[in-house]
Amino acid sequence: MPNNPQPLPSRRVFASLLTAGAGMAALAACTPENATPSPVAANAASEAPSASASPSAINPSAAATEPTPVEPPSVEPTPSAMPTSTAPSQAVAPQHSLTDPTSPWVVVNKHRPLAPQDFVPADLVQPGVRLAVSGEAALLNSTTAAAAEKMFGAAAAEGIIMTLASGYRSYTTQVATYGGYVASTGQAAADRASARPGHSEHQTGWSFDIGDGAGACSFQPCFAEQPAAVWAKANAHKFGFVVRYPWMFHDTTGYFYESWHLRYIGVEAASDMATRGIATLEEYFGLEAAPDYL
Ligand code: DAL
Ligand code: ZN
Repeated sequence: MPNNPQPLPSRRVFASLLTAGAGMAALAACTPENATPSPVAANAASEAPSASASPSAINPSAAATEPTPVEPPSVEPTPSAMPTSTAPSQAVAPQHSLTDPTSPWVVVNKHRPLAPQDFVPADLVQPGVRLAVSGEAALLNSTTAAAAEKMFGAAAAEGIIMTLASGYRSYTTQVATYGGYVASTGQAAADRASARPGHSEHQTGWSFDIGDGAGACSFQPCFAEQPAAVWAKANAHKFGFVVRYPWMFHDTTGYFYESWHLRYIGVEAASDMATRGIATLEEYFGLEAAPDYL
């Protein structure tokens, strides 16, 4: 629930996995594509208290709002998996404000808090999609809601059922959500998984988390292999969305891979990023990386 986040595994869990010789399993859990899902990694994830057990896909009142922090692999990634550095020449010319939270191009990260800090979208609506949450978490701004309806509908037409697992989050909710993370995992781990109040895209109404129709692996590393995540990764850009926190770009975005977190920026821009192979908004807009708070 938004005000009562479930406890999450500590970094020690991942450290113990690695020291127990499960390093490759942890790596597989973080590998987004062309990877063989690892039963060991899946078991490790399933042992962790889940922010959203499978019933959340069935029971709309079972709100799930936060991800499982995922340690990056302890080994160097292959060169092809290495994030590319931000190249100013690649930056797109701004067509919308990068600071106004009502702009589809607003960039919110650890260097760029919302202004005003207590911003509330004026046009929050509940999209006509399958919900795994209720209350404010079932809301999106009107543009994002319309795009989500199209995307969920297109996915369903291809046999992929996705759920809205967590949408809008107020500043006040984020205080509780982030605070719960700090209490259960410590601040360092919390800062890799949950935004500090006033720094979450969820507060803008432009972002939401998806779940899979089967309810499996919600907010966990193994969600990347679920049909909804696979479909979204391949198709979300056609509806204006990007996977905001891609694998191995935590040094740019500040967060570990969240295969469930989508962000609306418009069809043209999202498709342009996909075509050009640009993974992060920071790179696309020529902004500095934001791995940590200033
Ligand atoms: N989990 C993302 C970073 C948030 O809290 O907004
Ligand atoms: Zn999210």
